[in-house]
Amino acid sequence: MNDEHRILNAKIWDRHPDDWYVEPEWVSERLFATEKFEGNVYDPACGMGRILKAAAAAGLEHVGSDLIMRSESCRMQMDFLTEAFYRADNIVSNPPFKHAEAFVVRALERATGKVAMLLPSKWMHGDKRSRWLETTPLRRVLYITPRPSMPPGPVIEAGINPGGGKEDFAWFIWLRGYDGRPESSWLRREA
Ligand SMILES: C[S@@+](CC[C@H](N)C(=O)[O-])C[C@H]1O[C@@H](n2cnc3c(N)ncnc32)[C@H](O)[C@@H]1O
Repeated sequence: MNDEHRILNAKIWDRHPDDWYVEPEWVSERLFATEKFEGNVYDPACGMGRILKAAAAAGLEHVGSDLIMRSESCRMQMDFLTEAFYRADNIVSNPPFKHAEAFVVRALERATGKVAMLLPSKWMHGDKRSRWLETTPLRRVLYITPRPSMPPGPVIEAGINPGGGKEDFAWFIWLRGYDGRPESSWLRREA
């Protein structure tokens, strides 16, 4: 590898300014195979559109938006936190890390059915976060195994297929109006 390639290679792994980190396709394919959604699915941070693609494959009506237009399958440009006018039956997303809690709050205001967010599993452990979660209609937590790798979008665009991830993630699933304790289970790559 020459110096130019080395610099480019290091650069695509830099922290992404808009938190564009892309989950593996199986993570949403397995969600839609496991969790039932009635009505349409909206992803307000759809990036290269992997969640929308999995929703389409599951036969669900779907729509997406993102702060930046990153792909043909995610064409609507919108800041979900300040501009969202779209009301959906369900919101399913891998939110930008730095705005993750604000995305959950906003999604719970916008969705009429379920909200499913891909979030670090450690949210279940933090004292402040877990106390806040207790005040929300959290229905189910699906711990994802094996650990998904979540590289910056430019890494995927460069055709690199990175190996195992370092952080634990789960699908946090809320159901509007739910008033009980959350259930937990595993979401495995192989059923
Ligand atoms: C973790 S990535 C989602 C990856 C996506 N699932 C994919 O297939 O590429 C988060 C996305 O949120 C977008 N984003 C960041 N801030 C946002 C905001 N305020 N409103 C809407 N989208 C935002 C980023 O541009 C990025 O594409």
